[in-house]
Amino acid sequence: MWGGRFESAPAAIMEEINASIDFDKTLWRQDIRGSRAHLAMLAARGIVTEADAGAIMAGLGKVEAEIERGDFTFTRALEDIHMNVESRLAEIVGPAAGRLHTARSRNDQVATDMRLWVRDTVDDLSAQILDLQTALAEKALAFAGTVMPGFTHLQSAQPVTFGHHLLAYVEMLGRDRGRFADARKRMNECPLGAAALAGTSFPIDRFATAAALGFDRPTANSLDSVSDRDFALESLAAAAICAMHLSRFAEEIVIWTTPQFAFVKLSDAFTTGSSIMPQKRNPDAAELVRAKAGRIIGALTGLLVVMKGLPLAYAKDMQEDKEGTFDALRSLSLCIAATAGMVRDMRPDAKVMKKAAGAGYATATDLADWLVRTLKMPFREAHHVTGRIVGLASDRNVGLERLTLAEMQGVEPRITDEIFAVLGVDKSVRSRTSYGGTAPANVRAQARRALAALKKAAAKTASA
Ligand code: ARG
Repeated sequence: MWGGRFESAPAAIMEEINASIDFDKTLWRQDIRGSRAHLAMLAARGIVTEADAGAIMAGLGKVEAEIERGDFTFTRALEDIHMNVESRLAEIVGPAAGRLHTARSRNDQVATDMRLWVRDTVDDLSAQILDLQTALAEKALAFAGTVMPGFTHLQSAQPVTFGHHLLAYVEMLGRDRGRFADARKRMNECPLGAAALAGTSFPIDRFATAAALGFDRPTANSLDSVSDRDFALESLAAAAICAMHLSRFAEEIVIWTTPQFAFVKLSDAFTTGSSIMPQKRNPDAAELVRAKAGRIIGALTGLLVVMKGLPLAYAKDMQEDKEGTFDALRSLSLCIAATAGMVRDMRPDAKVMKKAAGAGYATATDLADWLVRTLKMPFREAHHVTGRIVGLASDRNVGLERLTLAEMQGVEPRITDEIFAVLGVDKSVRSRTSYGGTAPANVRAQARRALAALKKAAAKTASA
């Protein structure tokens, strides 16, 4: 491509470190799409004749069909997707193919291809997140009144409902979708036409190419256009946070499916066995979702480190944006799909969870609240009295509700047998009616609201 100034071919090791075709062939659709838009603009502006444009357009169609069919030979000697496509185009069209590269450079080309790929992928991820939220909200509605222990420090804290717990993830994923949507808005500007770094002397129409590729507008500064990878970084940041959320949920699935907890069963479809221990049912999918957060966070860190300290404008360093970005966003897609599968598949064991909800004096706060409400005790004092009652129950090795009235009155004489009404886990969750609280009626209403909003959002993306 630059034979004019060069007398000998690159060293083999140079080719190996320099070539990106092994991974940037992923961008072939985006590359051809960008070329079509650029070519149509060049023809419309009279920079390329209609005859040449027609021939090149037909040639691009042939290249596309060859790649689609798997009939295309990608060559390392041609470095990257841009030159692989262009070289084949020249074979098909002849010298006129060389006119396509007028008023553009691989620098603005690759920036455009990457934006298109990331944008497509972010759209797919957003739709997947929506589906996962729907699966969670449906499960939440079905188990809005199923009591389980709520934890802080992974110690039984207060009873909550399983539906309430699942809706927490619907919230997290809603913020994830928001972050992707936000990144998409900023990324949706077209770098094509910035050329190598300084713009071009040809009378191009960057607004036309931007519109043809579905961008809101062209990027405003040619140096920034070819040196910016914020769109990838922001998407990776959104992906990293989302992966972190999924990894927390995955860890909970791992805990819940242990025989010791046995809160939840996964079907065979999302479980593996052991080749040596016949009794085992391993939650491998959950473990892998938990782990994949590592490579996704790694891709974000990796690209930040590549970009830091880079002088303007383009530098070959930036070719290192690709593998991490491709891998991270694909991994996230896999994680979301696997998590949605597990959510739809999981069967909570209401009996086991309810029993666990009552263990560990999880209704101690309800007892303290009763002392505040009924005996008008200051909460700090109620906390102290409750602590002594819990100590008593613990010494006797029984639950709070198994203490006798006389035993409780030994600690606080004004206690009446009304107290027993608040010590059950069902009563406890039913009383938590504050906005955002775990009362089953709240959870049901929240789940319904979420499902309606998700349905609306899905209809909007489907029509877009
Ligand atoms: N393969 C290159 C990349 O991904 C394309 C841009 C090459 N530009 C250049 N000036 N060598 O960054």
